[in-house]
Amino acid sequence: MSDKTVASSAESFEIGDLRITLSGVIALLKMNRPEKLNAMGSRFWGDMREALARLENDGRTRVLVITGSGDKAFSAGGDIASFGEMKTMTQRREYQANVMDTFIALENSRLPVIAAVNGYALGGGCELTLACDVVIASDRAVFGMPESALGLVPGFGVLRAPSVIGRQMTKMMVMAGERLDAHQALQCGLVQRVVVHEQLMSEARNMATKIAENSPLAHAVGKKLINRGIDRAEFDYSVEALTVLQSSEDAAEGVRAFLEKRKPQFPDPGAAS
Ligand code: COA
Repeated sequence: MSDKTVASSAESFEIGDLRITLSGVIALLKMNRPEKLNAMGSRFWGDMREALARLENDGRTRVLVITGSGDKAFSAGGDIASFGEMKTMTQRREYQANVMDTFIALENSRLPVIAAVNGYALGGGCELTLACDVVIASDRAVFGMPESALGLVPGFGVLRAPSVIGRQMTKMMVMAGERLDAHQALQCGLVQRVVVHEQLMSEARNMATKIAENSPLAHAVGKKLINRGIDRAEFDYSVEALTVLQSSEDAAEGVRAFLEKRKPQFPDPGAAS
């Protein structure tokens, strides 16, 4: 057991900011940092993989439901405040690989994973939904991939979203930072079902129960076949490209602007060097 596990019991355990509750064959994982809109800190990625591995190996869990704590957010994405802690290309590359490995682990998990989106799903929060198998959204959910305002790109999102919502819709979200409300997300296929906020978790549980009644073996095979299409080389390219972007002056300005609560000022590309 990792030293990051702070509490453990037969029915629930916590790993860092993740709270996992087991009820029968369904596991509920809550991202639990509501005061920062469940932003994903540097520990988040490894913690998520550890939680997933524990659930895959517990011999009981058949479906995982992921949601966010609090009223406002599923997750507002990577913890922007922590980006400045990475000083070298090696640290940035390790971070990007860590992020990508987590999305891949979710996508490749033998467990069916349902995202129950209770509010903002921005950046990594939106990418997380793209790595899940079914997305159910509260009518208060908001989806976006606003990383270009930080001089960045959602590394997994740009690979996976085009096959889910189309290339141009992906570009609109990635380039303009355009946000989609729950119904717009439903219309373009980012979400499979929208329910009134108060019914989100019961709807997610109903879906989980339906899935859990069917064959785990068939789910594992079905997922693999449905998710085919992005090869490891593309993931690796994305990690490299993001490492370079994250080292740019644009990214430094984007992070500064977020922390200073102002609009970023990006220079013309020709003026950069
Ligand atoms: N990383 C780190 N902290 C974040 C965060 C993130 N991605 N998103 C929100 N927070 C923090 C805020 O800094 C704030 O902290 P503070 O109270 O200590 O100042 C707190 O969470 C609440 O957020 P706030 O911005 O005050 O709420 P809001 O309702 O005004 O705006 C959002 C909500 C989601 C629109 C806004 O927080 C936002 O744009 N977040 C960044 C989204 C993003 O760019 N994600 C991609 C990251 S790569």
